[in-house]
Amino acid sequence: MAAPARSPAGWDVSRGLENLPVGLWSQRGEQEPGPLQYTPEHVMGPGADIDPTEIAFPGCLCRTTSCLPSDCSCLPRGLNYDHSCLKDMGSENSYGRPIYECNVMCRCSEECKNRVVQKGLQFHLEVFKTDKKGWGLRTLESIPKGRFVCEYAGEILGFSEACRRMKLQTTDDSNYILAVREHLHSGQVIETFVDPTWIGNVGRFLNHSCEPNLLMVPVRIDSLVPKLALFATQDILPGEELAYDYSGRFHNRVESHGDQDALYKDKANKPCYCGTKSCAIFLPYDSSLYCPLENKSTN
Ligand SMILES: C[S@@+](CC[C@H](N)C(=O)[O-])C[C@H]1O[C@@H](n2cnc3c(N)ncnc32)[C@H](O)[C@@H]1O
Ligand SMILES: [Zn+2]
Ligand SMILES: [Zn+2]
Ligand SMILES: [Zn+2]
Repeated sequence: MAAPARSPAGWDVSRGLENLPVGLWSQRGEQEPGPLQYTPEHVMGPGADIDPTEIAFPGCLCRTTSCLPSDCSCLPRGLNYDHSCLKDMGSENSYGRPIYECNVMCRCSEECKNRVVQKGLQFHLEVFKTDKKGWGLRTLESIPKGRFVCEYAGEILGFSEACRRMKLQTTDDSNYILAVREHLHSGQVIETFVDPTWIGNVGRFLNHSCEPNLLMVPVRIDSLVPKLALFATQDILPGEELAYDYSGRFHNRVESHGDQDALYKDKANKPCYCGTKSCAIFLPYDSSLYCPLENKSTN
């Protein structure tokens, strides 16, 4: 068997578009990940009704270095982060509330503690070939619990386009299309459909685990379209594979806010190879995108 070899020195899956290079580990002669137009941030795709690059929020008036909840319009529900870690990670209240970071219109400094996801990758990550799940993503550094790891970014789609693309998939295809639903107190549900299959970021290599070490949280910065930010739910060691629960559950509890549905319905259920004790045997899926199109409104 050929010895494992690092990909050519300097190889960066992100092609210089992230603030840290993203490594690729492949065996000699192994096929590299399929063609991907790398984008570190969401881009507007067919049917999207909001351009994710459009600035939507006015920004706070704090002239301080770092914003405080008592004065800042971006922090109506208290601090979001404590030393760059998502506050209350794992408690009932942590992701039940919307998160807004200070944005390009805010008067505070770039050092404001309410700027975390917008700073981009902070840990060296590597794409690697797993035994049974195709490509996966692992960390090359220790990641403390609560820290931001990466986004899940890609084309923002309308519902019909997400359905259309789902229908074109065959049983053997990997699915990258993700639906995120945020339930507001008013009863309104905000749906975001992201597809990083062809245009996407490093998050598209994250596999599912029934005992995940990452949690996906919608975070808004400049745009109404949320960034889908993945935070460490525990301390993670160098070399560990990074994974989240595609159904949006965290420790087997359904979230009240921002539940995600990876759209994994196949003609037959797809087996889960996460290898954990609480494995649910099959990958989660969202049946909503298999409804006849005429049941839902247009875009
Ligand atoms: C978002 S992609 C993840 C990256 C993918 N492994 C690749 O090679 O590009 C999702 C696909 O990965 C595979 N996958 C992810 N998690 C899995 C798991 N726990 N067990 C089996 N397959 C998994 C499935 O094919 C799934 O449709
Ligand atoms: Zn601020
Ligand atoms: Zn402020
Ligand atoms: Zn599993």
